[in-house]
Parts: sequence; C-alpha cells; structure tokens
Amino acid sequence: MNKTFYLTTAIDYANGSPHLGHAYEKILADVIIRTKQLNGVRTHFVTGLDEHGQKVQQGAESEGISPQERCDRIAGEFKNLLVQLDISHNDYIRTTESRHKKVVSSLLQDLFDRGEIYQAEYQGFYSTRAEQFLQEKDKVDGKWPEIYGEVTEITESNYFFKLSKYQDWLVEYLNNNESFIVPNFRRSQVQEFLKEPLNDLCISRPKERLSWGIPLPFDENYVTYVWFDALVNYVTAAGYGEEGFANLWPADLHVIGKDILAPPHAVYWPIMLKASNLPLPKQILAHGWWMSSGEKMSKSTGEVVDPLSLVEKRGVDAFRYFVMREMTVGQDADFSLERFESRYKTDLGNDLGNLLSRLFHMITTYENSKVPRVILNEEFEQKLRLNFETAKQNAMEHFDRFQFNQGLEQIFVFIRSINKYADERTPWKLAKSDLKEDQEKLKTCLGEMVESLRLAIQMLAPVMPGVHKKVNELLGLPECENWETDLHWDYRLEGQSLGEKTILFPRD
Ligand code: ME8
Ligand code: MG
Repeated sequence: MNKTFYLTTAIDYANGSPHLGHAYEKILADVIIRTKQLNGVRTHFVTGLDEHGQKVQQGAESEGISPQERCDRIAGEFKNLLVQLDISHNDYIRTTESRHKKVVSSLLQDLFDRGEIYQAEYQGFYSTRAEQFLQEKDKVDGKWPEIYGEVTEITESNYFFKLSKYQDWLVEYLNNNESFIVPNFRRSQVQEFLKEPLNDLCISRPKERLSWGIPLPFDENYVTYVWFDALVNYVTAAGYGEEGFANLWPADLHVIGKDILAPPHAVYWPIMLKASNLPLPKQILAHGWWMSSGEKMSKSTGEVVDPLSLVEKRGVDAFRYFVMREMTVGQDADFSLERFESRYKTDLGNDLGNLLSRLFHMITTYENSKVPRVILNEEFEQKLRLNFETAKQNAMEHFDRFQFNQGLEQIFVFIRSINKYADERTPWKLAKSDLKEDQEKLKTCLGEMVESLRLAIQMLAPVMPGVHKKVNELLGLPECENWETDLHWDYRLEGQSLGEKTILFPRD
C-alpha cells in the first residue's frame, strides 16, 4: 500500500491571538491537502500549537494566571480559527500534551546516551525575545538588531547538541536534493547560510530562568530549548514509537513561513533527525509574509489584520480565494482591504456569481428548470470546450507546483469565457424566437453553460470548498471527490432539474 501523504504546518506560538499570517498558512496547507485528495491521494494533515517558552510564561505571569490556563485559552482561539476557515486537518497537536513530552524525552535521552549531546559552560549574550543565544557577529553596525529586543550577557552551564559535526553532511544533502526546499531560491539562501561554520546548539535552559518547558530527562535542573521541543511535534503527531509511524513518517511536506526556515527547519531539524537515525521530510515549502504598509504583520509590531472579521463580512470562501489568489507562494504580499473588496466584487461577484445567477434564471424561465440537451456543435461551442481543456491542463500544472494564484487565474479566464460565450450566443434573444434553429441554439447554449459551470466549480473545490458544495447541491451533484472522474466534458447533467437560483456573493 502507498504511504499516506503526510502534511504539517508550523505550530503557532501560544503567545498571542491568530492573525492573517497564521490563517494564510493553514489555508495554503488545506488547499494542498484538498488538491492531493482530489488527485486520489490518501492524506494526513496535522497542525497545532507551540506552548512552551519564555514568552508564554511571561504572558501568563503578567495576566496573573498559570501558563497552562493561558495556553488553553489561546488554543481555543486558534482552534476556532481553523473551524471558521474550513480547515480539514486530522489532528491538532499541542506541545503540552503527554504524547509529545514522552517523545521529546525519549529522543533527548537517546541522543544523550549516544554522545550527541554534551554539557559545557556557556558565556555570552542572550535575547529573550528571540529565545536564543547571540554572538558578536549577530550585531549590525555594532548594535543588536531590533528583532532581538533586550539582550543580556550571561554565563551558565548548559547542554549542547552536536550540530557542527553534521554541517558537511547537510551541505551535501542540500546539494543532492534539489527539491528538498521550495521555492528554490530559499534553498540557495540556506546554502549561503551554511557557508559560515555552525556552532553546536544549546538545547537547555536552566529551570530558575525558565520553568515552562519539558524537563531534560537526564538533568531535572533544565528544560528543553523551545525549538528542540517544537520541531519534534512533527514526529510525535506521526506516532513516533508506535505502530503506524512508518505509514506517515517521513513527512511529505512541511509548510512553514520563511522566517523559520533557516536555521530551525532547514538546519536544526534535518540534523536532529539524522542524529536520531530518522528519515528526513521529503520537502519543506517556505511561504512568504503578509505585509501591512511594508511591515511584516506580527504580534510584536501590532500591525495585524483579524482574519475572522473578514470571514464574517464576506464569507470564508471569499477569504480563502483572496489569500490564494493574491499571494505568489514563496513571495511576500501586501494586504489591502481595497484589493480584498475588489477581488470580491470583480472575480467572485461579477464573473462567477453573475454567471451562476443568470444561468439559473434562464434555465428556470426558458427550460422549466431542466438542463436542456446540447444539439449543436458550432465554432462557439468548440472554442468554449477548448478553453476548458486549456484551463484544466494549466491549472492542474500550476496547482502541482503550488502556484495557486496562477492556477486560479486560469480557472477565471475560463469562467470569463463562459460569460463571453453567453454574450455571443445571446440566449435571452434566442428565447424570444419560435424558429427551430433558434430554439436549438438556445438549448445548446444553456446546456454548454451548465457543463462549463460544473467543471469550473469542480476545479475551484480545494480553494472554495463551501461554494463548491453549495453549487453542486444546486446542480444536484454530490461533492466532488476525484478530479480524474469528474473533470470530463460529458454533459452528465442533461435532463437534471436544478435548484433555486441563489446569490453566491451578495453585495452590501
Ligand atoms: O514561528 N505572514 O510560531 P508563530 C505569513 N511556533 N506568515 C506568517 C506571518 C505573516 N505576517 N506571521 C507569522 C512560530 N507567519 C513557531 C513555529 S514550528 C515547529 C514552530 C507564520 O506563531 C510563520 O512564518 O510565530 C510560521 O510559519 C507560522 O505563521 C507560525 O508563526
Ligand atoms: Mg513568529
């Protein structure tokens, strides 16, 4: 049996409320999963929450509650977001769960037993905001960059993981595995990063400084560094140490943002796995950032867009469509409310929404709600079918390469061509004529339009699952489960009675 396609997202930090960046990543992952399923692939989709670390502890302290209480509340917010966004994940992992603590302990103990972790005195600079140790070389113009917040000098005994030992291996691995990191220019950045010698990674924090973490199994005076804890979620959720692990691991795809590619996902994680004798994930997809007036949208800058307010205003499918249509996967994109409204009114309202309502209106009035049989096959019809074949081929290729914005554009080129076909055939004029020839043209036109709409909607299913379901119901179809069976021009709706016309994307 083929291995299940296992996809993960980053697990979000439990130190603030979800924003557009979090929403986007989960939608992107969900769209990838749904396209896999429509291509007949069995899938497993995991997302979750990263709950340990100093910021979570401090956040709880300032609220006067326990870190676990704070995490529980934030987990509720993030889980609610997933429901509102129609995300089809199979599992939600929280790093405070016992299944996860067990796996982290067992991996650490194993690495320690095999000499991959050692204790040493550390003297240097520490950033609380980044929760990491810094070196002189991290300074810019002699100063610590803003992103590190307050930096203090400390001396302490700690545990280190032998990263440097694996540097040559990793460089070689990246050279030999071109598709390990996509987009390709991100792989080049990691290769660039690896031109500098790696230091061993400090993987412990003394308990007196940080108590909110997973204790080191071989020294109770320390907790585990957040990244060593968080990254392990991917194998925990695959059932490490249990039956069935090999059906999920190695992960097929880690979907993450560019800020956590190097070093965590592209350096620490492959080396942690290698040192643990576990296979590496097949691919890491690093997406870009949503920006707001040129700044990264983030909790620390406060410039955030609340995705739920947009979902509430325009519906989840419009929101999913917008983020997938606007962002070139891998690049940054600027968020603007005007763009959002313009996509809603133009693509969704004018192109798709109007097509559906005018078509249903005509079939109700001229054909007593029944899909007529196509009789003619003239140049107009041939052109329309060709447009579909082109859109299908291009869209599928773009989807395979995670180029969802281009794939969607192809589908909308096709949708616009259906409207154009109607404008050329002018069924509203044909309906007024009693000539047999005109009646045949009318039936042909409406039959072709129904078939075209059906096919366009099946292609939009991964991005707009709700709209797809609703339109399929109106067409009297079940949900599309497989593109191979459903993406054919076969007039399967001939003679079908259609539901009532609806407004898919209402104006205010
Ligand atoms: O990094 N645009 O959590 P996080 C697009 N807990 N994506 C964005 C974004 C933006 N403006 N802001 C954040 C963490 N993201 C760790 C991950 S994984 C083992 C641990 C993305 O809540 C970010 O790139 O800061 C990351 O992939 C995800 O949201 C969670 O970010
Ligand atoms: Mg972050």
